Amino acid sequence: MHLYGTQSINKKGHLTIGGVDTIDMVNTYGTPLIVYDISLFRERAKAFKETFRTVGLKAQVAYASKAFSTIAIYEVAKEEGLSLDVVSGGELYTAVQADYPRAKIHFHGNNKSRAEIEFAFEEKIGCIVIDNFSEIKLVKEIAETRQQKMDVLIRVTPGVEAHTHDYITTGQEDSKFGFDLKNGQTDEAFQQLKSHDFINLLGMHCHIGSQIFETAAFRFAAEVLMDKMIAWRRESGFVCRVLNLGGGFGIRYTEADQPLAPSKYVEEMASIVLSMTRMHNYPVPEIWIEPGRSLVGDAGTTLYTLGSQKEVPETRTYIAVDGGMSDNIRPALYGAEYTAVTANKVNEPQEVQVTIAGKCCESGDKLIEEAFIATPEEGDIIATFCTGAYSYSMSSNYNRLPRPAVVFAEDGQDQLVIRRETYEDITRLDIPLQKSKRGEKV
Ligand code: LLP
Repeated sequence: MHLYGTQSINKKGHLTIGGVDTIDMVNTYGTPLIVYDISLFRERAKAFKETFRTVGLKAQVAYASKAFSTIAIYEVAKEEGLSLDVVSGGELYTAVQADYPRAKIHFHGNNKSRAEIEFAFEEKIGCIVIDNFSEIKLVKEIAETRQQKMDVLIRVTPGVEAHTHDYITTGQEDSKFGFDLKNGQTDEAFQQLKSHDFINLLGMHCHIGSQIFETAAFRFAAEVLMDKMIAWRRESGFVCRVLNLGGGFGIRYTEADQPLAPSKYVEEMASIVLSMTRMHNYPVPEIWIEPGRSLVGDAGTTLYTLGSQKEVPETRTYIAVDGGMSDNIRPALYGAEYTAVTANKVNEPQEVQVTIAGKCCESGDKLIEEAFIATPEEGDIIATFCTGAYSYSMSSNYNRLPRPAVVFAEDGQDQLVIRRETYEDITRLDIPLQKSKRGEKV
């Protein structure tokens, strides 16, 4: 059994998170319940920032908040001095509700609407990461109409795609995001953005993938983008002040995953940037990164109550919990793997092999195919680890299941940060048929 962050086992044999007994939290808030170990989030944020200080690079570490977006996590990110990556008007609105320092907000997305871009201008956010030619037109038009300046980055597909332990370089990347570097789109975007009265081009951005465990792909991407920056200076004298290398740093979901320390990724990127700037006498750009999963992923644990069980003789035992693909779509969508323990019996051997199923009407609604837990009994609390990234943020009301509550646990205190949805919440947008339209006059 692998425990994460501040997790431990108390005298009662219960799993604790942030110094709080998970069973006490279940008794207070019910299940399914997602508990975040906030010290772990802070530790990771500090580690990323500290490494940049150590290597002597100016940097911004932006929390990629698509991984988990809510007011309270934005407040913690703000306390840690992080910048914030948002990808929609909804995430931007959440940031405004958290009174996030606007200058630290970066706006991403491959199809930002006019209303979203106007919202970004209205809030005077720090930077728009421009993704395509339609957006260039739209941002320019809005900036001119409002007579308002905006800092921008150009999002580039650098021809490298990284998957966990591997990466491939591709001639022309088939991606819906960003400007292609090889076919000249990036240069064309540069021409359109480099000298405009209201657009202040800061530099380039790329994001090469997610759940990446090695540094070669990041080094390659940094090199390719630096090359382009150097070429632009040679051709036009323009100097980029910012190089944003995105997120994607891997975490340990199961023992097959061997993540690197945050410092390792940063050191490797820094070494490329520093050596290339030295070699070409190029002013060292600020380095921005955008970790999502590596800040919140293993900080989150979902607690479920065990309900029914089903034995398929000589095949498997299903145990069913009171959530499922509605609160964690990742196993069904990506075949993502997780581990679990019986949180109320952590001291007992976790040796009974089961398949943990959800309660949605879908055969594929299995959270863990092969989990090892204590002898299962109705009412046990099953904790699945590492559910902090892309679980709640991708959750749904499939089967009209209410979404779970979310709690932050830190230094022996727990605090509700998202209340559990109620049936009233679930029907709040529904509009019953109007009587006259149903021909009720007869
Ligand atoms: N920056 C950009 C521009 C991104 O598109 C992403 C993730 C990140 C940063 C953060 O990546 P991270 O550090 O979290 O890997 N739903 C999928 C992951 C989608 C990632 C989308 N972009 C999953 O559950 O695995």
